[in-house]
Amino acid sequence: MKNINPTTTSAWEKLNEHYNNARFFDMKNLFAQDQSRAQAFTIAWEDFMVDFSKNIITQETKNLLTDLANEVSLKEAIEDYFEGEKINKTEDRSVLHTALRADKDEQITVEGKNIVPEIFQVKKKISVFCDAIISGERKGFSGKAITDVVNIGIGGSDLGPVMVTEALKYYKNHLNIHFISNVDGDHVFEIVKNLNPETTIFVVVSKSFTTQETLINATKVRYWFLNKTQLESVSGHFVAVSSNISKVQEFGISSEDVFPMWDWVGGRFSLWSAVGLTISLSIGFSNFEKLLAGAKSMDDHFRQTEFEKNIPVQMALISIWYNNFFKTETEAIIPYTQYLHRFPAYLQQAVMESNGKSVDRNGEKVSYETGNIIWGEPGTNSQHAFFQLIHQGTKVIPADFIGFINPLHGDQDQHDILMANFFAQTEALLSGKTSKEVGEELKKSVVSQAFLIPFKVFEGNKPTTSILIDKLTPNSLGKLVALYEHKIFVQGVIWNIFSFDQWGVELGKELAGNILKHLNVINSNELQKSTASLVDHYKKRR
Ligand code: F6P
Repeated sequence: MKNINPTTTSAWEKLNEHYNNARFFDMKNLFAQDQSRAQAFTIAWEDFMVDFSKNIITQETKNLLTDLANEVSLKEAIEDYFEGEKINKTEDRSVLHTALRADKDEQITVEGKNIVPEIFQVKKKISVFCDAIISGERKGFSGKAITDVVNIGIGGSDLGPVMVTEALKYYKNHLNIHFISNVDGDHVFEIVKNLNPETTIFVVVSKSFTTQETLINATKVRYWFLNKTQLESVSGHFVAVSSNISKVQEFGISSEDVFPMWDWVGGRFSLWSAVGLTISLSIGFSNFEKLLAGAKSMDDHFRQTEFEKNIPVQMALISIWYNNFFKTETEAIIPYTQYLHRFPAYLQQAVMESNGKSVDRNGEKVSYETGNIIWGEPGTNSQHAFFQLIHQGTKVIPADFIGFINPLHGDQDQHDILMANFFAQTEALLSGKTSKEVGEELKKSVVSQAFLIPFKVFEGNKPTTSILIDKLTPNSLGKLVALYEHKIFVQGVIWNIFSFDQWGVELGKELAGNILKHLNVINSNELQKSTASLVDHYKKRR
């Protein structure tokens, strides 16, 4: 992977010049000038159709962005990523979540060893365990079948499993799935208060097995369990997913109950590994495999398709176009399905923990913008919450609209209403409403309300990308998640940053430990002044 400052490339210089015209582009004119624009800027691939035509781009923009990708040797970087080169240099690690969805006969080598057989051994262990729990063959300590599963983890050890189990609720079995993530005793209490220890298993998920939140919550839950049962009952009810087997054993979970993962799987990209155990318990292992197979098809598409027709590459380049030239700050993710209600939160970690960096791969402070701010909510709820600002506010917010053609429960009529909103919003954001149109409308009203005209004008020209997928299935969800993973990768390559470390979350963790000590002593003088005053107030009133 080459370390090239993107702003020193000739493509960047040309993009800057091009931007001087492009910032005045009116998408309505672009459509009027080119009757085939909708088709020309759409990529149809398997069950996906991705329409980029409602973006402030022309063929020239696309060409220049592709030149940028070529100038930073993106193709070579993609190969390094899939081949297991140690591209996470600050942690001296390969980045191989893609290996988790590889075929059995592939060879992917890390430090001279083919890792594929080991991945399949762990998959076998997941499948045997899940089958035994789901079928009721593996029972709780009192002989009753398991009814409830509690995933205890945070960050990537929580967000991926929650997002997918919610997204694939339609495919779930009888097991009730719960998640404990926050180090908030009230949250823990709310989850366990209605659980029966006889019929509940706890999956403690932590790659490092040193994360404060997870260890405190797992310890609390174990006390709760022991209060209601006997010590010997614990073993069958607590399993762990981790790459730190010795720490898991110290915690008291035996090695047979550990589902291993590896240091070449980053936390926020880990749902495809044993971190997906809860997913597999919820929808069954065969559906979990379909999720992996979907991701694998997207991997192949990403690795093998020319940039012009490559969905993750195009999404990444267009995002860079807005972020670095239009200087947009945020991107909205709007899924038109309630099932994907945790998808924006999942992407917040995946995108912002990866590309929220300000030092380049040479160790130099960057002089250009990097990671976007990600936010969003499902439509149509979001239409009644923050769409006002997208339509008429002062900021440009590129938005991804994600919709499915077929509903899962078969109510096509109501689904048409949902999707009519999807199409209407992307059109309204593009076309807006001129003062002339507003004036004509107001003329029809009985009382003249000319003063209302400026308030009712929509400038339009707001960019959106529409992702239309045939149906929400484990397979299509796998493709969608992998699409965004690769988008993140491409952006990191071009911005010349390390996308796969997360040093920025360390400082807060250290300080929390220090402040906890001060909460238990009388004198808070050593703390920063404002923090000391907050801590003193807290101590007086707790
Ligand atoms: O928030 C930092 C982080 O390291 C994430 O990258 C990770 O997903 C999360 O903490 C949880 O880490 P672990 O799985 O090691 O408990």
